[in-house]
Amino acid sequence: MIVEHPAAKKVSPDAAGKGRVLSPELRARIMTERGNFPQPRSALLGALHMAQEEQGYLSRAVVDEVAELLDLLPIQVQEVVSFYPMFHDRPVGKAHIQVCTNIACALRGARKLVRHAENKLGLIPGEVTEDGKYSVGEVECLGSCGSGPVVQVNNQPFIEKATIEDIDNLLAGKDVKREAQVALVPEGVEGYLLPPNGVSRCHIDDYVATGGYEMARKAWAEMEPEAIAEVVKNAGLRGRGGAGFVTGVKWGFMPKDAGKPCYLAVNGDESEPGTFKDRQILERNPHQFLEGVAIGVRAIRSNAAYIYLRGEYATPYRRLMEAIHQAYAKGFFGDNVYGSGKSCHVYVQRGAGAYICGEETGMIESMEGKKGQPRKRPPFPAGFGLWGCPTTVNNLETLTHVPVILRKGADWFKARGTEKSTGNTLFGISGHVNRPGVYELPLGTPMREIIEKHAGGVLNGRPIKAIIPGGVSMPVLTADKIDVNMDHDSLQKAGTLLGTGGIVVMDDSTCPVRAALVIARFFRHETCGQCTQCREGTAFFYKLLKRIERGDGALEDLDTIQSVTTFMEGATICALSDAAAWAAGNFMRRFRPDFERHIHEKGCPFPESFEP
Ligand SMILES: Cc1cc2nc3c(=O)[nH]c(=O)nc-3n(C[C@H](O)[C@H](O)[C@H](O)COP(=O)(O)O)c2cc1C
Ligand code: SF4
Ligand code: FES
Repeated sequence: MIVEHPAAKKVSPDAAGKGRVLSPELRARIMTERGNFPQPRSALLGALHMAQEEQGYLSRAVVDEVAELLDLLPIQVQEVVSFYPMFHDRPVGKAHIQVCTNIACALRGARKLVRHAENKLGLIPGEVTEDGKYSVGEVECLGSCGSGPVVQVNNQPFIEKATIEDIDNLLAGKDVKREAQVALVPEGVEGYLLPPNGVSRCHIDDYVATGGYEMARKAWAEMEPEAIAEVVKNAGLRGRGGAGFVTGVKWGFMPKDAGKPCYLAVNGDESEPGTFKDRQILERNPHQFLEGVAIGVRAIRSNAAYIYLRGEYATPYRRLMEAIHQAYAKGFFGDNVYGSGKSCHVYVQRGAGAYICGEETGMIESMEGKKGQPRKRPPFPAGFGLWGCPTTVNNLETLTHVPVILRKGADWFKARGTEKSTGNTLFGISGHVNRPGVYELPLGTPMREIIEKHAGGVLNGRPIKAIIPGGVSMPVLTADKIDVNMDHDSLQKAGTLLGTGGIVVMDDSTCPVRAALVIARFFRHETCGQCTQCREGTAFFYKLLKRIERGDGALEDLDTIQSVTTFMEGATICALSDAAAWAAGNFMRRFRPDFERHIHEKGCPFPESFEP
């Protein structure tokens, strides 16, 4: 469901005309959505979401009609439909049950749920029951890894910590709703990203009562853009989207007088398995994020931000749109904000299930209504970004730090974290731990503290086998590295990277070949296919790991994995290829004896391991 923008110029159903299959109301809504963007094509993903919701799936007739409404060729719409996993070009069940089978959910028994649903319905993936009521599918990470296994029915809020009983209830036509993610500031920590005591602060009055939007006012009414960027640079804030670039420096790359509009593109795609923090901000503290957006827009001399939110996030999307409506009603967004004579607008676009749209130029392509295939650089987004205009891409969490930095100052911020990794962050922890969830802690907190104290230790007190420290793109660590501090420098020294701070813990029952296989399956599914090394390499890893896991591998396969990694790194348009190579290569190198046992024993030597 696309929520109308508060400043949308409404189109009457009559003006949108009578179509072939879409209702007049929907045609009018698509035309209204079109008005939010400088180019009609940018309304495409939104239009397809709405059309699918009304029609059940995107038939050829729907594609033709959407193309006509957005001045596109049918093939331009068709290629987008086929690129994004959330779009269906053939009927699915009235209840389309999707189970996440990526690593964190797989570790908590997701495979059993898929099998149970398929057996009960007598279906294989892609089929629909004869009465058209149900279909079942697997999905690659829903962004709720700490409450796995996670199930989503159509585009409804997630069913978290899903059980066989939940599947039975769904198939009996009952409504199953459960959102259960833990997200809190541990006692003794001075939090500022999440509201205290685990509560949600979604109403604007509650946020304003704490001084909220005061820094946005100051930024628009009293400060010059350079001064804002300077404070944020001095605070040492580094992007929380994975690469850790210094935010104030990035803002400084924007041209002073571009002669065309500049844009802030906010990355809320959050599709890296093991990462589920941005969602918590939208569900619990959306106005602090929006205030950060307003300040970011001012800092880069822009007048508009476009937020790209992952398509599966039903509840966060609703909360965000409610918050935007509230903020427009107060005059915090709109024209002449804070009496500055300038306008500051914010729009939201929803993705449609493709991980590669989190990569910043893939995201920009997707925002323009295309397949999310990353762009070659140069030119960089600061010169040629959204609609060919200078653009800064910031992660959603990154911007949520900004109002606090302005309010409390760079020195206050730098007093948290380490010298080169300043401030708090939202660490997500999932897998085999007792209290998975999102915890706000200073950067540099020891990994052992996060696992043992905050997450309550490993399930059943078992020893640890492996730890992924920052989402599945980051090299896996062996258990002896548990005393590493969770900051950029320390993790690099330990042979990995901080990434998004999403920790996945695997106990000693875990087969590392299976873990590598699940992750290789993910990258094979998500490569956009433009670069030969990535397209072929991801397919190769999956094939080899599957063979080894089955017991049909040979020792030469391990050398092949090693050599494939070398040509995949640093040679492609974006870093997905490197990530796929780091994952497969590091599992193989760091757990080589386990890989070799599969080969010598002709099968998996981990009888208690999770099912991939
Ligand atoms: C394959 C791939 C996926 C990515 N996914 C995300 C994502 O979901 N969210 C995000 O903020 N950054 C993601 N990034 C990083 C972005 O390209 C970009 O660095 C980031 O959004 C910049 O924001 P920051 O400087 O605030 O971190 C991804 C990068 C790659 C290579
Ligand atoms: S590295 Fe992979 S995902 Fe990135 S552009 Fe190339 S093919 Fe696409
Ligand atoms: S929600 Fe299942 S792995 Fe992220």
